[in-house]
Amino acid sequence: MPRTAMAAVHDGDGSELKVREVTVDDPGPGEVLVRLGASGVCGSDRHVIDGEWTLPTPTVLGHEGAGVVEAVGAGVTDVAPGDNVILSWCYPCRRCRACAAGKAWACTGTRSGECLLPDGGTRLSDENGMVYPYLAVGTMSEYTVVPESAAVRVPAEVPFDVASLIGCSIATGVGAVVNNARVPAGASAAVVGCGGVGLAVVMGLTLAGAYPIIAVDTAEEKLAAARSFGATHTVRADKEPVATVVGEITGGGADHAFEVIGRVETIETLPSLLAPGGVGVLVGLPPEGARAGIDVLELAEAGKTLVGSNYGGAVPSLDFPRLADLYLAGRLPLDSLISHRIRLDEVNDAFDAMRAGTRTRSVIVF
Ligand code: APR
Ligand code: ZN
Repeated sequence: MPRTAMAAVHDGDGSELKVREVTVDDPGPGEVLVRLGASGVCGSDRHVIDGEWTLPTPTVLGHEGAGVVEAVGAGVTDVAPGDNVILSWCYPCRRCRACAAGKAWACTGTRSGECLLPDGGTRLSDENGMVYPYLAVGTMSEYTVVPESAAVRVPAEVPFDVASLIGCSIATGVGAVVNNARVPAGASAAVVGCGGVGLAVVMGLTLAGAYPIIAVDTAEEKLAAARSFGATHTVRADKEPVATVVGEITGGGADHAFEVIGRVETIETLPSLLAPGGVGVLVGLPPEGARAGIDVLELAEAGKTLVGSNYGGAVPSLDFPRLADLYLAGRLPLDSLISHRIRLDEVNDAFDAMRAGTRTRSVIVF
């Protein structure tokens, strides 16, 4: 029986999100109906609202969510009604070369980027027809239907607000450190941009035993938050010469530097923060079609590397439970990352606050 759900819908006309009713159909074969418990408000949703990335519309936004399995379609064996799950915006097809190589984040066999389920449809609609779930999950809704591989079981002791963050910012940020950069204990690191994802990078660096951990941001609140998660030094990007200060703290440049904003200007300066042989990790995602200019000689002569990081190199079925266990063991202070718990109808305020740089992470609680 189809049901209605309140959802935050992006109409693609430049206006703010509309919180309105959508119809959610039953799950088809290989699909899972989830009642959302929480959805994080992430920078990637803002890219869409601000027209930096184009999508089919109308779209239910949100790609960082957790909830309870309400019903499953034919053939679903990984999860059952009543299970708590974290949703993954990259649902692996489990058949392509990337999936076979253990690189679910690079899966080429699905239509998640087109906001479609594996059969090319969606289970959301309104009076005008099809509604698209952002990245095939659309978590800013009371209910959503996702492919089985996008719903990863999580222990019931992990609260929904924390679980939702594991599905994007934590997987992305901690994963960039442990899966992509593989930062060893004692290595130095700089983190440029300390929003929800950047703070997760700081947490990952703390977990890995990096030192020093230099947090860079334009907002004092973000730097204070970074210190609370283990940053040993902070730099105000709007007041201090970042490369000079990082060079002084590290004695010649950081072993690793992470860009976690998605701004071309900061991406271009990443090599200047690195020691010879250092590795710059691109975590922030810029607007579609953005191109960056880099000083090739600086990169070549000093043997520096720039690497892309998508979804923290995560395999959701492996990384989500691992991150949940670290949280339950007290090794990842994820509760402290949540600065605001909000209602669905307060979602536009959360994006305004994100643009103003005044919140670490807002989480919608259903
Ligand atoms: N220098 C340093 N920090 C800056 C600058 C700058 N020039 N401009 C902005 N910032 C800071 C902001 O103050 C904010 O703390 O960058 C941070 C960006 O964080 P959020 O807007 O909260 O975004 P977040 O959800 O963390 O996502 C960051 O990662 O996954 C991607 O798509 C996502 O591109 C986005 C990025
Ligand atoms: Zn995200």
